Amino acid sequence: MSTNPMSVDPARLRPWKQLERDARSCTDCRLWESRSKVVFGEGDVDADLMFVGEAPGRSEDLTGRPFAGAAGNILDNFLGDVGLTRDEVYVTDLVMCRPPQGRRPSADEIEAHMPYLAEQIAHVRPRVIVAFGELVAAVLAGRPLPLERVAGYRFDVFDGVTLIPTYRPTEAVKGSARALTAIKRDVATAKAVLDGRIATGADLLAEARARQSQSDA
Ligand code: URA
Repeated sequence: MSTNPMSVDPARLRPWKQLERDARSCTDCRLWESRSKVVFGEGDVDADLMFVGEAPGRSEDLTGRPFAGAAGNILDNFLGDVGLTRDEVYVTDLVMCRPPQGRRPSADEIEAHMPYLAEQIAHVRPRVIVAFGELVAAVLAGRPLPLERVAGYRFDVFDGVTLIPTYRPTEAVKGSARALTAIKRDVATAKAVLDGRIATGADLLAEARARQSQSDA
């Protein structure tokens, strides 16, 4: 993401209702031709915790709601494990329209949707974002974050937001035990950051920088 959504002047943001209206009639990339419904984000627009998925699947395309199908059941179960409900978090996707045959969104499709994601982040101002999948994590961090190395780690993005990359619930639906275990752990990690039980991405970055400057001295 090229601009920091947290530093955008709130006066320059579209009002929420207008943002949603614009999203629902968006034709900025070719995905509008094959979509049934636009899947705009959902949940608490003041949430401390945001989840960002890659793209709507079939159930989401039909209902117009993010994580409405089996992947959403996994998310709901793991939220329940830490005492949260869907209404207390905000859930959205990198792109709001289902790519044909459920393929990955292309770079230009992601680019076209970016203003909508950035404005949702700017409005919600989450403290923690859980990124579902390597593609989402890379877009939010602005650099590659290989999941086999860093799933569940806490990164600092947008000067103060903790980003936790994890696997896609869709992979868990398809039978990946590794994805299922990691997602459960990483939702719990997000809650622990929010509760102040473990360090934020910013805290960890500051510690790493202090260690580095000590070893340089
Ligand atoms: N997977 C996603 O990434 N998003 C959804 O909305 C559903 C499944």
